[in-house]
Amino acid sequence: MTEQVSDTVESAEAGDALAASANEASLRRSEERSRAIETQIAKDPSGFRMLTGDRPTGHLHIGHYFGSLMNRLRLQDAGVETLVLVADYQVITDRDAVGALRERVQSLVTDYLAVGIDPARTTIFAHSQVPALNQLMLPFLSLVSDSELYRNPTVKAEHDATGGRPMSGLLLTYPVHQAADILFCKANLVPVGKDQLPHLEQTRVVARRFDERYGRVDPATPVFPQAEALLSSGSLILGMDGTKMSKSKGNTIELRMTADETAKVLKKAVTDSERFITYDPATRPEVANLLTIAGLCADRDPAAIAEEIGNGGGGGLKKYLTEVLNEKLAPIRARRAELERNPDYALAVLREGNERANAIADATLAEVREAMGMTY
Ligand code: TRP
Repeated sequence: MTEQVSDTVESAEAGDALAASANEASLRRSEERSRAIETQIAKDPSGFRMLTGDRPTGHLHIGHYFGSLMNRLRLQDAGVETLVLVADYQVITDRDAVGALRERVQSLVTDYLAVGIDPARTTIFAHSQVPALNQLMLPFLSLVSDSELYRNPTVKAEHDATGGRPMSGLLLTYPVHQAADILFCKANLVPVGKDQLPHLEQTRVVARRFDERYGRVDPATPVFPQAEALLSSGSLILGMDGTKMSKSKGNTIELRMTADETAKVLKKAVTDSERFITYDPATRPEVANLLTIAGLCADRDPAAIAEEIGNGGGGGLKKYLTEVLNEKLAPIRARRAELERNPDYALAVLREGNERANAIADATLAEVREAMGMTY
């Protein structure tokens, strides 16, 4: 056993400082690689298959929109083959109750369609509807060690978020499940924030170890590719109170809100006691955050907006932001309202995506069985 997971043992022995500088170095490598991939996509997107996904735990908000949806749209429109996963099984990694799952999934798909994810070009599917994807968990679990999972930063963070409750086996192994999400369709491109880099590394490790342990169907190529991260420039938007944006804090603006609801939330947004508006992220993070969002909406430099508002103060800034944000979201909201009039449509899109995902997953599982000698 030990020799099969030897890279695990090596990194466990590495000192903290060494690990930190290795992380720094690997982050820089990932950033460089992302830039190279972007150039390649611009030249020829045909060699890429991208997978992204979200947990259906709440409604999508402007943090999702500016942080990841816009990037997905850009890649979809650039011609990259795209799969979008509704990670419904992941909902039960860190919570006991699934909640109103069906409504949430429907709402998530509606949000996707409203922002412009095009089901003709992009496959939208749900975990739970693709049995062969989930079956990959078995061989993949045989390729990782428990200590490696306990050390995974995403698992650690998730575990902390459970507030000391015991950790489920699914939470412990969720990076392996994510590896299955990525590998079932042989995605070679996964847009992520830098906090998600460890799970991509885990995915590459699983792919490599599968090849080493179980072999190949075609002697020239491993069954699974090495998936690469495409680091999103991650316009890190904060909530309206200047802290991390999260639904549970009520500091978000959801895509589905009305213009009036948006105005109301923005009215309560935190600024500071200094009247004159300046763009100063280091010393005035709340004001800078509002200016950043306004800049993204109006496609303008936040500093220029600050200059223009100047003496208008927090009130002037909020008024401007309300205007440009509502304007930016208006077409998305109109499309969303239209989609809501026919709620079956979102589910029909999902069902068709599930079918496509199943065809891909079945083919991959067949290869996996062949590589493992499980053909009877
Ligand atoms: N973990 C992601 C989230 O919480 C969702 C997700 C599941 C995902 N599987 C994935 C993202 C695979 C990228 C690749 O939003």
